[in-house]
Amino acid sequence: MVAPLLEMKDIDKRFGATHALEKVSLDIVPGEVHMLLGENGAGKSTLMKILAGSLRADSGKIYWNGGEIEFNRPQDAFNAGIGMVYQELALIDHLNVMENVLLGNLPRYGNSAFVNWKDAEKKARSVLAEVGLENIDVRRRLGTFNLGIRQLIEIAKTLSRNAKLIILDEPTSALTNSETETLFGIIRGLKEKGVSFIFITHKLDEAFTMGDRVTVFRDGKKIGGTKSMSETLESELITSMVGRPITEFYPKERNALADEIVLSVENFSDGKYFHDVNFTVRAGEVLGVAGLVGSGTTEIAETLYGLYRHKSGKITYMGSAFEPSKPSESLRKGIGLLTKNRKSGLLLHLPIYQNITLSNPVDFVKWKIFRKKREELEKAKYYGSQLRIAAPSYRLKSGILSGGNQQKVVISKLLCAKCKLFIMDDPTRGIDIGAKVEVYKLINELTRSKCAVILISSEMPELIGMSDRIIVARDGTIAANLDVENCTQELIMKHIAGGGKNER
Ligand SMILES: Nc1ncnc2c1ncn2[C@@H]1O[C@H](COP(=O)(O)OP(=O)(O)OP(=O)(O)O)[C@@H](O)[C@H]1O
Ligand SMILES: [Mg+2]
Repeated sequence: MVAPLLEMKDIDKRFGATHALEKVSLDIVPGEVHMLLGENGAGKSTLMKILAGSLRADSGKIYWNGGEIEFNRPQDAFNAGIGMVYQELALIDHLNVMENVLLGNLPRYGNSAFVNWKDAEKKARSVLAEVGLENIDVRRRLGTFNLGIRQLIEIAKTLSRNAKLIILDEPTSALTNSETETLFGIIRGLKEKGVSFIFITHKLDEAFTMGDRVTVFRDGKKIGGTKSMSETLESELITSMVGRPITEFYPKERNALADEIVLSVENFSDGKYFHDVNFTVRAGEVLGVAGLVGSGTTEIAETLYGLYRHKSGKITYMGSAFEPSKPSESLRKGIGLLTKNRKSGLLLHLPIYQNITLSNPVDFVKWKIFRKKREELEKAKYYGSQLRIAAPSYRLKSGILSGGNQQKVVISKLLCAKCKLFIMDDPTRGIDIGAKVEVYKLINELTRSKCAVILISSEMPELIGMSDRIIVARDGTIAANLDVENCTQELIMKHIAGGGKNER
């Protein structure tokens, strides 16, 4: 066997009552893509933060190129050749591309404090070219680029220090399919040059496409040994991750649909991102919405909820005319939105339970003055436990939760709001396979009680598995209305790309 590039031995880490890592070991060989899988809160990001020097382990040892090392700060790991692309990107929006790539590492004139901008530009350009961004304007402010490009810029940054190991923590959770393909191409190219990757994901198909070996974590422990990806079955991985086999991924309940129309949207336009949008959703129905990023789906959802102004169109909600004005008003009327942007849906400094009950302004207040905290806590636990939010106490701040568990809080918050119409924009992004099934069961519960659900998703199997009807958005309008019975991924793709004819 090849000598390992990295060995982490018996790493242990506690956060108060949470034993986040229990004597975990991991080794990485040169030029491999090592998949790190596991449920939300399993400890994946924690182990990677320890490796990247942004967290200290309580005990355990790290060997790099055969020698024992200790990183006290991120810069140490970075200098040694370990680059990390965090789950929540860490670049600085108001700096330009070049400054971000070379952050903390700008070339100077000799020993002086003066930056050699000419060298800086040359160096930035050469690493950006390695990730396919040779034509990017290095002086443009980072905040003006989309997530896909920013992800690639993060990787370029790790390359500026000749990284031998790059950690990617759920790199594709916010990327489009084509951006994902670009990223995969770049990973393959760097791998050829001997760079190793640790790749964290909740998407199993990515593990099989990209992984050479795989390690699974559950509850802070390594489950089984590291395995070669080619000798591993999907069902084995799922059982290791979740602790039980999953046989039904989409437990959709198909009820006879009521005639009652909850929402009807006619000729809805905002004059910018979408135009002439028409659709209806009935009580008890899940209306799936497919479309690429930029097709207008997110803008339609957010405008309906009252986050932005529309220009024209007629909206009828529960039989009466409805003018979206502001989110609090929509919520009061029973329209809830799960935003795509997880961070904006969560107040990280507030306790978990208060985040969950936040959107329900009536149930937890007595005489408009006193908060019924005990009831809030009970209700929060009800939704939280169904989605298995991993937290020692719901009184703790939401900020301590793992990425996927934060998303579960946002979903619980929406469910707690007792709406009639639920608009969900990519609800299962970043959450593990087991919890996805629980989200689907909760959607069943909603439709059983005659609520309507608009499910916007980039995952086609999810749309086909959970919708009653699917509409496809393209170029800011609804391009197709598909019957789910005969719907295939190919058919949706065809309409997304503009090749299909309307099946209505
Ligand atoms: N700063 C912190 N304070 C307290 N607890 C923490 C802190 N950071 C992480 N934890 C806890 O440690 C556990 C592991 O979290 P971690 O972020 O490593 O999970 P993960 O495997 O990356 O999950 P996900 O797939 O959701 O990103 C979780 O229970 C989390 O709540
Ligand atoms: Mg994580």
